[in-house]
Amino acid sequence: MKKLWEEINPKAMFEIRYLYEAPQHFDTVADWIYRQWWQKPGNTAEVVRTPLRGHLQPQPLPAAFVALDGEMPVGSVLLIESDGIDALPDLKPWLAALYVLPAYRGQGVGKQLVQALEQHAWQEGFTDLYLVATDRVSFYYELGWRVYTKLVGKNGITIMHKSMAAAPAASA
Ligand SMILES: CC(C)(COP(=O)(O)OP(=O)(O)OC[C@H]1O[C@@H](n2cnc3c(N)ncnc32)[C@H](O)[C@@H]1OP(=O)(O)O)[C@@H](O)C(=O)NCCC(=O)NCCS
Repeated sequence: MKKLWEEINPKAMFEIRYLYEAPQHFDTVADWIYRQWWQKPGNTAEVVRTPLRGHLQPQPLPAAFVALDGEMPVGSVLLIESDGIDALPDLKPWLAALYVLPAYRGQGVGKQLVQALEQHAWQEGFTDLYLVATDRVSFYYELGWRVYTKLVGKNGITIMHKSMAAAPAASA
């Protein structure tokens, strides 16, 4: 089976797979996303599970990636068509829901997930990627993303952009 990240960094410690290649981890990934971003009164886990099922096939968009330590899932990230930013309806696609298990943070898993997603996007011909950065601007900046715009409003979010005109560079 294709080992996405190993194509661009053979020394990587963690393996990055498409979620459709490892569907046994669907429940875990859905649970991470729900607990991190969507668990609130009135919501059920289906608010995440229903759209995430649409990621379980080989296709350009949407796509989901899972990081594995052996057989254990330790992080995930999504490539989606829209992140629901009403002020920017024409931008796509978006990196979303980047999550790494707390015990695995600071070991490069998040970086590997972002770079695997970028590799996929580039292979599929997407020339621009966007994301909503809350307090993680420096994390993405280090990976070559730049501030696209800052939206004022209830939460004051920062939108970041990465041009995929060139192939993503492998890094150690
Ligand atoms: C953000 C998150 C995905 C980072 O994952 P991670 O695996 O710890 O990140 P990495 O180990 O790949 O970090 C890569 C680099 O970014 C740095 N970094 C990590 N978290 C950072 C943060 N919160 N702010 C700034 N820099 C950060 C690391 O120091 C590392 O730098 P280095 O390569 O110079 O050592 C993880 O903290 C997480 O899941 N947080 C909760 C969910 C979340 O906030 N997601 C992002 C939504 S915008």
